[in-house]
Amino acid sequence: MDRLNGPPHLMIVSDLDFTMVDHEDPENLSLLRFNSLWEAYYRQVSLLVYSTGRSPTIYKQLRKVKPLLTPDITIMSVGTEIAYGESMVSDSDWEHCLNLNWNRDIVFQETAKFSLLIPQPDTEQRPHKVSFFLEKPNSSEVIKALSERLEKLKLDVKIIYSNGTALDVLPKGAGKGQALAYLLRKFKAKGRIPLNSLVCGDSGNDAELFTIPEVYGVMVSNAQEELLQWHAENAKINPNIFHSSERCASGIIQAIGKCRVNFFSPGYEVVKFYLFYERWRRAEVEKSDQILQNLKSSFYPLGTFVHPCGTEQPMNKCTDTIERLYGDKRGKQYQIWLDRVLTSQVGSDVWLVKFDKWESTGEERYCCLTTVLLTTKQAEESFTWMHIHQTWLDGLEAKDQSVWFL
Ligand code: GLC
Ligand code: MG
Repeated sequence: MDRLNGPPHLMIVSDLDFTMVDHEDPENLSLLRFNSLWEAYYRQVSLLVYSTGRSPTIYKQLRKVKPLLTPDITIMSVGTEIAYGESMVSDSDWEHCLNLNWNRDIVFQETAKFSLLIPQPDTEQRPHKVSFFLEKPNSSEVIKALSERLEKLKLDVKIIYSNGTALDVLPKGAGKGQALAYLLRKFKAKGRIPLNSLVCGDSGNDAELFTIPEVYGVMVSNAQEELLQWHAENAKINPNIFHSSERCASGIIQAIGKCRVNFFSPGYEVVKFYLFYERWRRAEVEKSDQILQNLKSSFYPLGTFVHPCGTEQPMNKCTDTIERLYGDKRGKQYQIWLDRVLTSQVGSDVWLVKFDKWESTGEERYCCLTTVLLTTKQAEESFTWMHIHQTWLDGLEAKDQSVWFL
């Protein structure tokens, strides 16, 4: 938040499992498309917030196996834990708020009396979240009996059923919606309310997100029955909820499609180049003289490319290398995505773009901290790459460094 100069243009608050992440797509195509869109147009002026049911432990596991961008804020454990930035500094004020009239031990004792509630693994039991598995056929009766029991004991709790399998008991003031409302109050106090907010979800624990005033909402096409049913019963609450015709991250892209800003931007230039470069190495674009000619004219011949190994190459060699690498990843599970793209204008027509460049081939993953210096010729709406500098991110070096790559 503090990295932005003014209010965020767009804040996306998205669930992860089966909303941002499609577990039925091993190639992560829609997620990678979302990443490109975000880094090209929104990163610099907007906020990315993940809101997941996962505990910090299994959220971090997901980040190891899926190409998820670094969010500005992470809301975990169904809105009971909030953390900021890459280093995930937790919001202890929020956790203190949730202690109000919350007695975890009593919740634990009472829920234990319901034999159909099967406790979830220990990682998913959190200070303000007690979680179970509950089969769909019995769910309504169990939820009704449990809420009557907890109400009798005058406990201020909230019961949420998601994915037709999971039941969470939380403090009444917790949940994904309350956590978002808390963040919006904080932004307001700083005079930084986002100009537009879009919430995205697929299951029961996301329903609350759509109740927050003045947000746009997208239910992805693969949304669960319990969310669709909630929407059918509460459609009046928010007229700005949209049921996408696309699955997961493609649904999010569909929802933000209308907000697209400017095609001519340095962020877009680097994202577009690496999208091309991935397809080139997979031989999914045709090799033509025209393409090679265009590449040649985008690299400043006297510029330098500093490879992460520390060696220097003149920029004109880059085009030869790119030509040689055509199709070297054909038929392999090869992907490139950029994270944390930050642009600074350093002169009237000079831009510095800094980003993390991730690559994966099958199981292997590596990452380079990359800086590119671009100049623009506004009249032609094109960029020239003057200088590229890459450094391996600690512990994420490619094993085979014999191939020359960008
Ligand atoms: C995630 C959490 C789980 C929770 C479920 C629904 O899967 O790991 O504990 O019950 O989301 O909120
Ligand atoms: Mg989900």
